[in-house]
Amino acid sequence: MMITRIYVDNFLCLGNFEFRPKQLNLLLGENGSGKTSLFFAVKLVRDLVVLGASAASLFAFKKTIWDRRDLQSFELEIEGLDGTFSYRLEIQHPPREAPQKPHIKGEYLDFDGRPLFRYGGGEVHLSMTITRREPFSHSNRSTAFFPTWSRRIREFDGSRTSLHG
Ligand SMILES: Nc1ncnc2c1ncn2[C@@H]1O[C@H](COP(=O)(O)OP(=O)(O)O)[C@@H](O)[C@H]1O
Ligand SMILES: [Mg+2]
Repeated sequence: MMITRIYVDNFLCLGNFEFRPKQLNLLLGENGSGKTSLFFAVKLVRDLVVLGASAASLFAFKKTIWDRRDLQSFELEIEGLDGTFSYRLEIQHPPREAPQKPHIKGEYLDFDGRPLFRYGGGEVHLSMTITRREPFSHSNRSTAFFPTWSRRIREFDGSRTSLHG
């Protein structure tokens, strides 16, 4: 597994920034040019998706100060043995000076260009080997669906089994 693309928009000093790492990379740049910010972006996405930390705490005050757009986005491309995963995270920031915290607007996971996972507006759509007509509900806009998804699918599978069994 290897990260082959990192895209960051409206995060600290990085706007519409794309980096396509190779197996060995050298990042050179003056102090304050954004080297650390790039790794920080990947770390925050990791904390959200793997550790289940809240978007409100992770992304507060991380928007580019001179960018007037409220939407911040991150994309990762990960090449595995059998194909490429693309993940996109959208963070909605409150309007300037508003008291609300940032929240997750959307999450998208594709495998080789095919959608596996979509989150937005309180609904999660999964397209996997299990099929489900109804979306999973996920009303917590601050934590990602991923940290709990395997448990939820097991629960869903279990309830389906008992329904038919
Ligand atoms: N919210 C923000 N919006 C825009 N720029 C920011 C924000 N917070 C910090 N910065 C700027 O981002 C830069 C931080 O760069 P950094 O990633 O630490 O660079 P490096 O690791 O290359 O020295 C600094 O120039 C800092 O002024
Ligand atoms: Mg640095």
